[in-house]
Amino acid sequence: MHLTHLRVNHLEQPLGYNLMNPCFSWIVSDTKSAVQENASLRVYCADDCIYDTGIVPGLDQRGTELPLQLEPRKKYRWQIGVWGDQGDYGEAEACFETGKMSEPWTGKWITAGEERNAILSREFFLASSPVSARVYITGIGLYRLFINGKPASDELLTPGLNAYDRWVQVQTFDLEGLLQKGENRMEIWLAGGISRGRFSFTKNEDYEYCPYDCAIAELHAETAEGEVIFGTDESWRWDSSPIVESSIYDGEVWDPGRKGKSGTVQLCSPPTGPLRDRLSPPVRVLMERKPLQVITTPRGETVLDMGQNMVGWLRFRDRAPQGRILRLQYGEQLEKGCFSRANLRTAKAAFEWKSDGAGRWAQPFFTWFGFRYVLLEGFDVPVDPEDFTGCVVSSALEETGSITTGHEGLNRLIENVRWSQRGNFLDVPTDCPQRDEREGWTGDAQVFADTACYQMDCAAFFTKYLADMLEEQQKAGGCVPYVVPFARNRSRGFEGGAVGWGDAASVIPWTLWQHYGDLSLLRRQLPNMREWMEWVAAQDDWPKACRHFGDWLALDRPEEPKERVGKTDIGFLCLCYAWLTAKRTAQAAELLGEKDLAQRANALAACYRNKAQKTWFSGDGELLCRTQTACVLALHLRLAPDLDRTRELLRALIREAGHLTTGFLGTPWLLAELPSRDAWDLLLREEYPSWLYEVKLGATTIWERWNSLTPDGCFSETGMNSLNHYAYGSVAAWLYGYMSGIRSLDDAPGFRRFRWEPLPDPRGGFAKCSLRSPFGEIRSEWQFEETGLSLQLTVPFGSEAEAQLPDGRQMLLGPGVHSFHIPSGAR
Ligand code: BGC
Repeated sequence: MHLTHLRVNHLEQPLGYNLMNPCFSWIVSDTKSAVQENASLRVYCADDCIYDTGIVPGLDQRGTELPLQLEPRKKYRWQIGVWGDQGDYGEAEACFETGKMSEPWTGKWITAGEERNAILSREFFLASSPVSARVYITGIGLYRLFINGKPASDELLTPGLNAYDRWVQVQTFDLEGLLQKGENRMEIWLAGGISRGRFSFTKNEDYEYCPYDCAIAELHAETAEGEVIFGTDESWRWDSSPIVESSIYDGEVWDPGRKGKSGTVQLCSPPTGPLRDRLSPPVRVLMERKPLQVITTPRGETVLDMGQNMVGWLRFRDRAPQGRILRLQYGEQLEKGCFSRANLRTAKAAFEWKSDGAGRWAQPFFTWFGFRYVLLEGFDVPVDPEDFTGCVVSSALEETGSITTGHEGLNRLIENVRWSQRGNFLDVPTDCPQRDEREGWTGDAQVFADTACYQMDCAAFFTKYLADMLEEQQKAGGCVPYVVPFARNRSRGFEGGAVGWGDAASVIPWTLWQHYGDLSLLRRQLPNMREWMEWVAAQDDWPKACRHFGDWLALDRPEEPKERVGKTDIGFLCLCYAWLTAKRTAQAAELLGEKDLAQRANALAACYRNKAQKTWFSGDGELLCRTQTACVLALHLRLAPDLDRTRELLRALIREAGHLTTGFLGTPWLLAELPSRDAWDLLLREEYPSWLYEVKLGATTIWERWNSLTPDGCFSETGMNSLNHYAYGSVAAWLYGYMSGIRSLDDAPGFRRFRWEPLPDPRGGFAKCSLRSPFGEIRSEWQFEETGLSLQLTVPFGSEAEAQLPDGRQMLLGPGVHSFHIPSGAR
């Protein structure tokens, strides 16, 4: 028996994270046993056992919370032992280490004042090389730490992007191998990030959490002479950095030869929230790519084609003479063969570098770009592609799901969804990575959450997003802002409350519950759900209470092609989502034993349901809001009194239009509400509008709109056309959950028991799906062969499947591999 994937709060060996009540999880494999009969979990601090569960049944693999009293800056070890039902045994061990928790700081906030993008530094002496060393550090807006000229970590965009007015995330780094006996030097590079400067629909610099850049750090080194503590204080100095300008939207301007200014730092107390140990999983360069080709365009431009729409930047070799300006402009598409940045709106998305003639490698530090093509200016041509490396930057999350089918276009679509998640899961789930937006739009995150959790382990990632959301809700009487974090913006007040967007507060926690089955996640997020539900309940007229986006970008108003809000009535959407939020809150409250809340939420849900049925259905059950999305919601939420009739209406509306017309809110559940054949028809359609239309036009990520590009490869005239926007990628949840048939069940979440009901279609040829669930790998495969249809399911240890085969057979399947054959003609 092997024990793997030992996690604390869904993090591997977390260092310096805010663990609150630590929650332990593990996966069992390579065993003849089917279930865990007993387990024991022990936690040690140094050699002291601080917690021992004893040998007990019922320790939950998906998440066992222990009431530990953790201390700051301490290393803990934990051991898990598992006895299987066949008498075999396995054990494993892992570590975690706390950060500063609520311990007071000896380090002080320091700043270079007016000087932007400064480097703060200080030398210090160590009498001997330390045995171990940690640094606790944060900075506003963004920082990077160097010790003796080397990066202290490979993490990027630290301290993360969140509501700094409410809390600032502190990172802990292990400085092993970086410090030495004698003189040492600590350098903190700073930039504005989302804290100051242009961000979020502003044309000028009126967007800020803090008007100056600042940092605080505290280093603890264990040496032969004892503990040495060294922190930021008034004895530090600052220097101008080579970064002349840095902006999320516009990119960076570097002058490595610049003669800058310097001075002594000032102490400061930034107008930000309290320091708290981090929640964000790290952002890193996940992979590197070489350019696919160098293109000379009809305009004579030199353009690198990365062969993939990606997020991050290029690192390149500067071979220019001193003083020459090299410029890289980032774009997503060639129009008529030429470089285009027509869809970036006001974002300059460029990197400018003034050569110092030293032959350096250059790259930006505190920004990112969404691009496939890079326009090179100032470079000697022909350029050598070997001088350029694409750095793919993303939150480093474990990829848990994969699907391959016998259909090439479908495989590309699946890859595109994955690339859009990679590119837009950049500490915050962003709408898009390239134009002047790149924000944590709640609606987009909500519709994509299910897909996201199939593709990657998102528990820790969404935990941070939802913690930030709750901070925002507490500022706004429970209301959820349109975007999280909702940074302060002097010219615009609070904006939030939209139907389907604010409901991220209930939908995402429930999605996490379905995928991970860890009650501690739901407990942490119950306040998000409750506060949002109460805010909605307190509105006299929710449809009129704020600006709504409705079924965003739906195609059901052909007579008004510029209109972005779909035709589905906002009043109808409000009742649907008010019901969904109340229902999920009630379910969560019941699970957590919050009886009063459950009762209140159930009563609200019943009232919304009644109202929806009275207002939006005729006496004999006909849906009065006649759009595809209205049908999908009425079906999926089981609000329609007559499901068959509503399904027939949906099919009729699709036939009438000749295609799907759904926007952000209808698309995620559309295929699931159709008979399998109809779903496959829509899935495999290649003409506009469809998922494969964009694949056919060469898309390598998911587009914002069904028609972001016209068939000639040019941006459509609709305005607002991101080519990397994951919302319509929500179709992947259907591929995992229906095509391959793996669906978590609400009464046994985290795939403790799951439904296996694949929907094979000969047009797909075969589908092989692998999902690393909290119990281990689930594999679902089907394949059309000459003699019929073969199916296979692998159920991991600790899990079981309610199988529903295409020939009607039903059965319960335990751990192991199960194969089936359905002869041709038997279905
Ligand atoms: C974003 C969306 C977002 C929407 C709200 C757009 O600008 O890119 O994806 O959800 O605004 O309607």
